[in-house]
Amino acid sequence: MSVKFRNGENIPLEMHKTRVIQRLNLLPIEERLKASQEAGNNTFLLRNRDVFLDMLTDSGTNAMSQAQYAAMLDADDAYAGSETFYRLSDALTEVFGTKFFLPAHQGRACEHIIAKIFVKSGSVALMNYHFTTTKAHITLAGGTVEELVDDEGLVIKSNKNFKGDINIDRLKESIKRNGKENISFMRVEAGTNLIGGQPVSMQNLRDVSSICRAAGIRIIYDASLLADNLYFIKLLDPKYKDSNIKDITREIASLVDIIYFSARKLGSARGGGILLSDDGLYGKFREMVPLFEGFLTYGGMSVREMEAMAVGMKETLDFDVISQTPIFVEGLCNELLARGIPVVTPPGGLGCHIDAIQFCSHIPQTQYPAGALAAAMFIAGGVRGMERGTISEQRNADGSEHPAAMELLRLAIPKRVFTLSQIKYTADRAAWLFKNRNLIGGLEFVEEPEVLRFFFGRLKPVGDWPGALVKQFRKDFGDSL
Ligand code: F0G
Repeated sequence: MSVKFRNGENIPLEMHKTRVIQRLNLLPIEERLKASQEAGNNTFLLRNRDVFLDMLTDSGTNAMSQAQYAAMLDADDAYAGSETFYRLSDALTEVFGTKFFLPAHQGRACEHIIAKIFVKSGSVALMNYHFTTTKAHITLAGGTVEELVDDEGLVIKSNKNFKGDINIDRLKESIKRNGKENISFMRVEAGTNLIGGQPVSMQNLRDVSSICRAAGIRIIYDASLLADNLYFIKLLDPKYKDSNIKDITREIASLVDIIYFSARKLGSARGGGILLSDDGLYGKFREMVPLFEGFLTYGGMSVREMEAMAVGMKETLDFDVISQTPIFVEGLCNELLARGIPVVTPPGGLGCHIDAIQFCSHIPQTQYPAGALAAAMFIAGGVRGMERGTISEQRNADGSEHPAAMELLRLAIPKRVFTLSQIKYTADRAAWLFKNRNLIGGLEFVEEPEVLRFFFGRLKPVGDWPGALVKQFRKDFGDSL
């Protein structure tokens, strides 16, 4: 960051000010316990009115700029041929340099279409790391996923920048073993979500691109978390220190064949889309959009959101805008590290990721330590995080549990939403929980859906550990909320 503090402290500084606010509610801990029980100890099932700090996700919850709100008033409602569509399409062409834009209502809708077009039964999709909805769509279409992230990407405490990078030897071996005809595509996920929002370096993308293009394998880029990834490329790769964000974005786009994104994240609105430049491919995609999403000029989105997206995409080219999330993530990680709490390092984008394997080392993975920690964090502080561990995995085909490679509690930092005092509050409650971690126990399913079970699954605590937490809280904090 360009602003230095006199005492050398590294404080995330807001390059914006708050002009519209939403009232928050912090329930007493007894009511938080009740809310958690009613939600089956699954933070996805909490009602937002019971949540103090919603760190579940940044999806659709980023703060928008006044320019985005202003643009929403200027939307053109039409089933076909809306001017809004052309404005958004032009904005995306300006940002990425790609020729065609196909609208879809959100990121997973793009994944659905992509899987329908490219995934054949028995085929394998290569990627640095899977995302929940991506994998679900690929398996639904009869394919499998093979992950090629470098081993260091899965190490919690690391000094390696760009932990989302693909292991090139593994990529070459995989192409040889699978045969290019059995590979549906190579997918690169920017700001790799499930391993802690870890970016991919430009050099790695360049290497992956040249190998895949030489082998005739299509490269699909998931740009949902691109904003954070752009920040890290400029900050950490000396080659791009003086580059502008648009040039970096265009270079990324030139190395891949298809880009898709969740605009609930990228561009801070709500929607999604697919970008490509190949006329033949465009024809294939064009058939799918009206079938599954809506007519080609809205794709299931509201024109107001599309206007906000167009402005938001252009704002993504502003370094001050894209730096806000990563510097706050770093701020929260540093607060937690200072209190001895194990988090994924180096801090990535998206959110701060607490390692539940270390935090709750007494809870076996079969009792979902990250899920238990998510429930405990809500009870302790009204802070809603998201389990990103074994509960977020799908069971193996034979019904056995598939232990996640990383067992994380994600505290997402929606863009430009939280203040430093709220970050400090979160760290304080996490530190209290860490001191009392032995009180936290495991969880077991009482209702387990077959697909994406983390969304609606209901769990119960193994023993009354939530009650013990509440008792300890009252002992330590008296009548504090
Ligand atoms: N790809 C990535 C990397 C994502 O992070 C997400 C969503 C999607 C695809 C799917 O997009 O939600 O618009 O359908 N991530 C959200 C999250 C849900 O909380 O991390 P979507």
